[in-house]
Amino acid sequence: MNKLLILLSLIASQAACLMQATAPQKAVPTPTPALYETRTKGAPDGIGKWYQGREITFVMGFAGADWLERPERSSEEQPDRVVKEMNLKPTDVVADVGAGTGYFAFRFARAVPQGKVYAVDLQPEMLNLIETRKREFKAENVIGVQSTEQDARLPANAVDVVFMADVYHEFAYPFEMMQSILKALKPGGRIIQIEYRGEDPNVPIKPLHKMTVKQVRKEQEFVGLKFVEVKNFLPQQHFIVLEKPRS
Ligand SMILES: C[S@@+](CC[C@H](N)C(=O)[O-])C[C@H]1O[C@@H](n2cnc3c(N)ncnc32)[C@H](O)[C@@H]1O
Repeated sequence: MNKLLILLSLIASQAACLMQATAPQKAVPTPTPALYETRTKGAPDGIGKWYQGREITFVMGFAGADWLERPERSSEEQPDRVVKEMNLKPTDVVADVGAGTGYFAFRFARAVPQGKVYAVDLQPEMLNLIETRKREFKAENVIGVQSTEQDARLPANAVDVVFMADVYHEFAYPFEMMQSILKALKPGGRIIQIEYRGEDPNVPIKPLHKMTVKQVRKEQEFVGLKFVEVKNFLPQQHFIVLEKPRS
């Protein structure tokens, strides 16, 4: 009798093992790494939020509008050369994201007479300035767009070239903003990103307001953009060309 009991319990435990081996394994969820990290200690001009190892800066307020229009800017940032280097077609649709006063947007408007320019900004005061200048310059092809921190609010698949000068490092939600920009860009469309050179300690700009090419590539390749080239004609800034892949 004892022998029979031992035999039965052996069969039962073998069966249990077999069932375990054949039962579908429950998938162990892998944690998604957080996109952003917040820390209490950061730079005085930072918002205490990090993305891809970089601390994000505060948005330049409307009070700085005059600084964007300072006369010496044309030699420091060579806006007409910037437009030339963009190789725009007269029919192109351009989006100037973080347009500020429209310093670049109104120059693009002249370069794309049969196209249009979306001048996108977060701050309604900047958009009011853009509207006033639009009337003054009779620039009918400039369209002001008020964005949110996460969405450029541009039409889908409608933009040939996105331009971002001295703004990307201010995006409070760079990942989400870039997703919305990617949706607006046509396949093969370009992004021109201008940033003060983070590699150069002689560029007299606060560190968080500058970016290295390595960091720009890291962040933009992370969202799926293709790095094309850096053009080195500006005295203090990088002119970085990126592309939305065609497939
Ligand atoms: C330093 S200014 C540069 C303005 C302009 N690109 C120029 O070079 O004259 C940065 C501008 O980007 C805007 N900005 C910051 N974050 C933004 C966002 N998520 N979406 C749209 N505009 C943004 C700010 O309101 C500000 O007008």
